Amino acid sequence: MMRRMLLAVCMFGMLAIGSASCSSAGGRNREGYPVPEFVLTYAENQPEDYPTTKGAYRFAELVYEKTGGKVEIQVSAAGVLGEEQSTIEQMRFGGIDFARVSLSSLSDFVPGMNVLQMPYLYTDTEHMWHILEGEIGDRFLDSLDGFGLVALSWYDAGARNFYSAKKPIETLEDMKGMRVRVQESELMKAVVEALGASAVPMAYDEVYSALEKGSIDAAENNWPSYESMRHYEVAPYYTVDEHTRVPEMQLVSEATWKKLPEEYHEIIRQCARESAAYERKLWAERIQESEERVRDAGCQVIELSAEEKDRFREAMLPIYGEYCSDYMDIIEEILEAGKQ
Ligand code: GCU
Repeated sequence: MMRRMLLAVCMFGMLAIGSASCSSAGGRNREGYPVPEFVLTYAENQPEDYPTTKGAYRFAELVYEKTGGKVEIQVSAAGVLGEEQSTIEQMRFGGIDFARVSLSSLSDFVPGMNVLQMPYLYTDTEHMWHILEGEIGDRFLDSLDGFGLVALSWYDAGARNFYSAKKPIETLEDMKGMRVRVQESELMKAVVEALGASAVPMAYDEVYSALEKGSIDAAENNWPSYESMRHYEVAPYYTVDEHTRVPEMQLVSEATWKKLPEEYHEIIRQCARESAAYERKLWAERIQESEERVRDAGCQVIELSAEEKDRFREAMLPIYGEYCSDYMDIIEEILEAGKQ
C-alpha cells in the first residue's frame, strides 16, 4: 500500500505538470468552438470498442457540446493511465480527473461499497438496476464524501462467471485448490476462498499472461471482458455461475470538481447519466455478441445446474456476516426487492 501511495504521489506530480501545460496551451478547439478552459483526463481500462469506453467517449462529447467547448475531456482507454487501483489513488490527489471503475476496485478505499456487490445479491439485471436507480443507489452515489472522489453515474458490467484453463468447473468440488485470479479486493478474495480455491489478486491487464503461463488456473469476469481481453484463448472453459454482479461507477476527482465552476456541475452530472443510459444499451448488445464470439471460437460453456448453483451460493453465505454486518438492513431491503 505504501509503495502504491508513493507511486501515486509521484504520478500526481508528473500529471499535474502535464495537465497544467495542457491547459495553459489552451487545448485544441474545434471549428466554431472557443479554446477550452479546461482540458481534463479520463481513465478507462477497457479496450477502445468496449461498451464502457464508448460510454466515456459519448460522455466527453456531450460535455464538450453542452459547455460550448469550454470543457474538453480526453479519454485514455486500454489502461494507458494505469491500472484501476492506481487510477483511484491518483484521482484522490487530483492527478487524474475522471474514470470509470469497478466497485471491487473502489471498495478497498470505500468499504461500504462491498454491500452492492455481494455474491448472489441480485436475482437478475432488472433487480440490480431497480436498486441502483432507486433510493439505495442514490445513497451510495452520495457516499464518497471524505474519500476525495465524487460519483457521477452507474455503469453496467453484467454478471461475473468463472473460467478455467485446463479443466471445466462443473461442481463446487472442481474449485478446490484452484488458483483463481481475483480483483485487488478483500471481498473478492473471500468469495473465491469460500469456494475452497486459492485467490490470487492481480491487475486486469496481467490476467492473460498469467493464464497462459499457468501461474493461475482460472479467473472470473463477465462475457464482454472474457471475450475482449481474449482470455478465452487461454482459458476455454466458461462456467455460467453468475456469482456476482459488480456495478461500475463514473467518478470525478473531488479536487477537479472543486476547480470547475458550479455552472458546469449539473451539466456534467446530466451528461454522465446520459452516457450511462447509452452504455447500458451497448452492454446488453455486447453480452450477446461476446457469447457468440467465444462459442464460435470453440469455447466450452458450462451451465451450472440449479442444485450446484445453490451449493455455490450456500458456500458464500458466511461472507455476508463478515463484510456487511453493519449493513444488514440494506441487504435485507435489496433481497426483499428481488422477491417481487
Ligand atoms: C471488469 C471491469 C474492469 C475491471 C475488471 C477486472 O472487466 O469492467 O473495470 O478492471 O473487471 O476484473 O479487473
